[in-house]
Amino acid sequence: MTMRSLVDPDRYVGTVTVVSASIAQANLPQATARPERRSLARGAVGDFVFIDCESVKLLGRIIEVKLPDNERLSVEPAMGSPPEPHPVGRIQLLASVDQKNQKLVRGLRAHPRIGDAVYLAQPELFGDLAANSLSGSDQLSIDLGLLSAGGGIHLKLPPEKLFGRHCGVFGATGGGKSWTIAAILDQIKANGGKCILFDPTGEFANLPSVTKHYAFNEEEGAERVHFPYTQTTEEDLFALFRPSGQSQGPKLREAMRSLKLLRACQGIEPEGVVFTARKTVEKANQPRAPFYNALDSHRDAINSPLCDFRITSLPEQVTAECVWSTGNNTDNWGGPDNSVAHCETLVARIKTLITTHQLSCLFGTAGQSLVQVLTDFFANDADDIIRISFRSVHFEHNTREILLNVIGRYLLGEARKGSFRARPVIVALDEAHQSLGRTVGDEYASVRLESFGIIAKEGRKYGLTSIMATQRPRDIPHDVLSQLRTLIVHRLTNDEDRLAVERSCGDLDKNAAMFIPTLAPGEAIIVGPDLPAPMPIQIHEPLIPPDSKGPDY
Ligand SMILES: Nc1ncnc2c1ncn2[C@@H]1O[C@H](COP(=O)(O)OP(=O)(O)OP(=O)(O)O)[C@@H](O)[C@H]1O
Ligand SMILES: [Mg+2]
Repeated sequence: MTMRSLVDPDRYVGTVTVVSASIAQANLPQATARPERRSLARGAVGDFVFIDCESVKLLGRIIEVKLPDNERLSVEPAMGSPPEPHPVGRIQLLASVDQKNQKLVRGLRAHPRIGDAVYLAQPELFGDLAANSLSGSDQLSIDLGLLSAGGGIHLKLPPEKLFGRHCGVFGATGGGKSWTIAAILDQIKANGGKCILFDPTGEFANLPSVTKHYAFNEEEGAERVHFPYTQTTEEDLFALFRPSGQSQGPKLREAMRSLKLLRACQGIEPEGVVFTARKTVEKANQPRAPFYNALDSHRDAINSPLCDFRITSLPEQVTAECVWSTGNNTDNWGGPDNSVAHCETLVARIKTLITTHQLSCLFGTAGQSLVQVLTDFFANDADDIIRISFRSVHFEHNTREILLNVIGRYLLGEARKGSFRARPVIVALDEAHQSLGRTVGDEYASVRLESFGIIAKEGRKYGLTSIMATQRPRDIPHDVLSQLRTLIVHRLTNDEDRLAVERSCGDLDKNAAMFIPTLAPGEAIIVGPDLPAPMPIQIHEPLIPPDSKGPDY
């Protein structure tokens, strides 16, 4: 490997005058733009530079250029023939150059000394060094984009560096998140990865990388699916049905338990328990002991958090639970009590919700079961990327959040069972803030949207990783954010969002973050444990971009 010189006298920009732990200050005598000489000025904010510390060369980035206060006026044109100005610059020290292997390595092998010379990084050379530090020798590579300052050099990551860990894509609206997801999917496809894309708005419907499309309602080009409510938990249904007051919650809980018993017994009445023709459990005036014995003998099914029972019996069963706890003798339940009246609103609500089209994604049976679709997807090696559209999932009753959370929980369950060990799966989630770290429901019944957070925390060891895109990183819980190891940060204008990203990611310090508000659409700073330093890149345009157009005004 022939070593090109990092130290090119023609690219000299100045000399180090102050050194601190991570910042150096240097004279930048040629940084002033003079009339007719603007193109010759050298040393602008954002430029990458090499600092020559004799045997060690360091990579830095100019983050500030200024004139000493007493020279401010020397650049005013009206002042006659002014003295020569002496600009100074602040340089963030980023990484060291491993000259033998021609790559960048993390950390500073030495600190600059005062008097060390600073050279502008030649774009191709910088690009090569950055690219070499990432790609393994002959592995397939993920080509995400061009290094902004790298003279047309592509930034390539070995697949496991991008997909073997969770990835965050952040950016204000219009920053380029959806396009980046589409570009990543192109790369997943090209590298034979397996991915499930959750598409909140339907904008990814035309992506060529997606092999199969599914939707929870009639949608053009997508196959209809439903997610069986039997895979939801009691808490999910509580958050949907919102039992209120003192009596509705306990009655709903008991009704679910009775119906689970009925299902566990496969409709065959245990001795002393009465099942009605309408597939409910009779409670009024019945003996209590046989019922509790039956519960005990089916305790595994009863204690399972999943709602494996006949949902259409639920309203009636709630009413059936409204009986005096003891009747004429303490061995029996009594007749109906006044909680029947208290539960009327709940019963009506359940009846409406289980039949409304808004919740047909859970309680309906149209189309295939998503569980079956996913099982087939995991088993079929030829299927690589599937898209699950949430475009037609309603916002009412927190359906979207609950549904996505339930699917996430199902995936996590599969991951824990070891389904993805042989063939890892990536889940890509746009607008992730909608489904992370929030609680939906009310004071009586609520469910925490935590399944994707748990996937971020423990999915990796089971072969389940995630790509989460959001414009509100501040809404992502800190413990989840800190699990996102590779970050692609587009333009972010809100201070709190920038701060949230900075706090969660040790590699993106304040100085590097200063460039985030000024990034162009599609441009991003990529940060990760394998990258020697935060790198600005221009993400490739996807083969076919997502259709993120709003209404045509
Ligand atoms: N890699 C890119 N190359 C060129 N242009 C891009 C790139 N990425 C994004 N853009 C431009 O930015 C626009 C917005 O991109 P995109 O829809 O991905 O933003 P977003 O961050 O997903 O926004 P929102 O939060 O509104 O969904 C695109 O329409 C496109 O014009
Ligand atoms: Mg978007």
